[in-house]
Amino acid sequence: MQKIGVIPGDGIGPEVVKEARRVLDAVCEKRGLAFEFEEFPLGAGHYLKTGEVLSDETLQRLSKKDAILLGAMGDPRVAPGVLEKGILLRLRFHFDQYINLRPIKLLEGVPCPLDRPSPKIDIQFVRENTEDFYVGLGGRVKKGLSKTDLVLKRHAYEAKFDVGIDLKDESELAFQIGVITRHGAKRVLEYAFQLAKDKKIDLVTCVDKANVLTEMYGLWREVADETSTKHGIEREFQYVDAVALHMVRTPERFKLIVSPNLFGDILTDLGAAIQGGLGFAPSGNINPSGVSMFEPVHGSAPDIAGKGLANPVGAILSAALMLDTLGRKEAATDVERAVREVLKSGKHRTADIGGKTPTTKVGDAVVSHLSEA
Ligand code: NAI
Ligand code: MG
Repeated sequence: MQKIGVIPGDGIGPEVVKEARRVLDAVCEKRGLAFEFEEFPLGAGHYLKTGEVLSDETLQRLSKKDAILLGAMGDPRVAPGVLEKGILLRLRFHFDQYINLRPIKLLEGVPCPLDRPSPKIDIQFVRENTEDFYVGLGGRVKKGLSKTDLVLKRHAYEAKFDVGIDLKDESELAFQIGVITRHGAKRVLEYAFQLAKDKKIDLVTCVDKANVLTEMYGLWREVADETSTKHGIEREFQYVDAVALHMVRTPERFKLIVSPNLFGDILTDLGAAIQGGLGFAPSGNINPSGVSMFEPVHGSAPDIAGKGLANPVGAILSAALMLDTLGRKEAATDVERAVREVLKSGKHRTADIGGKTPTTKVGDAVVSHLSEA
């Protein structure tokens, strides 16, 4: 019996998670799998009622789960960041989910915004999720002498920076420190090359900007080289700007891309665009030996919440990614196939791609496909 914590969240989160849950129930029935779901009512409603964002007790309960399925966080009634940082980022950090896996696949029947016949887009995108320029180290200093102590605490290490700045002939300076450790690079690159092996992919594209940010991405390259040799899988290095260009011009050339945090954040949104939009993009925040969390890439979309307009495909595919990561490969393939067939038929298109099908009807179609096939 595998235990899943479900966090529907805000806005369209509950609407799309409901469909993902129905699909999971259908595939469990089909494959004779037993999952135990427990819902956690975190988000704006809970926060406004109780003043609590995410308690230690909830973290404790979630830590007993095999995986977490999440909808989206964010609500116009709550200051930006309170829920996103207080729940999402805290969960990712607490469970040390150092891999952000975002498959970018253009499914038949989904319009591609690239101005040419739909290319075959099928990219495994692996983004590092804990380091780089997202470690939150920085400061602003005014003219004159100043000293700042910055501490970076991670599960595996701690680094203290004494930053002394003597600012002359300028009124104010802001700075931000990026960090890549050998440990941090190694574990995500290890995951990426192993994934390539599992998926029989023979070339891994490693993203960086080692021509300008030579220290950080120099280390990144070194570790990528070692990992490539260890696994006997070829690698290529590409600068982030070139990757952006190729993702638009010839996305079919990429099979697996592995990227540091910041560039990965940007490139995966580009990826969501070329796969038909945010509504189609699934993701996993993964710790291979801990609790991983699966969620659609989109946010809570308050502009369309409660109207039945949300596209549930990103959430349903996130559930499939969860099944795959939990070792339920056949069930994952069943769900992907059902989604693919439903989209291919062209009969169930949500408003984001110019259709009229409401959220629940897309879920219905996927569920009936699963129970028929
Ligand atoms: P968003 O992803 O919620 O929406 C952007 C646009 O895409 C909107 O026009 C929305 O209607 C549309 N859209 C998004 N998902 C869709 C779906 N499944 N079907 C159809 N259309 C869809 O991003 P936005 O508007 O920047 O942020 C709204 C709130 O969500 C904010 O509070 C933000 O902080 C939060 N957010 C949360 C994320 C998460 O929970 N992982 C990620 C991104 C934003
Ligand atoms: Mg983003």
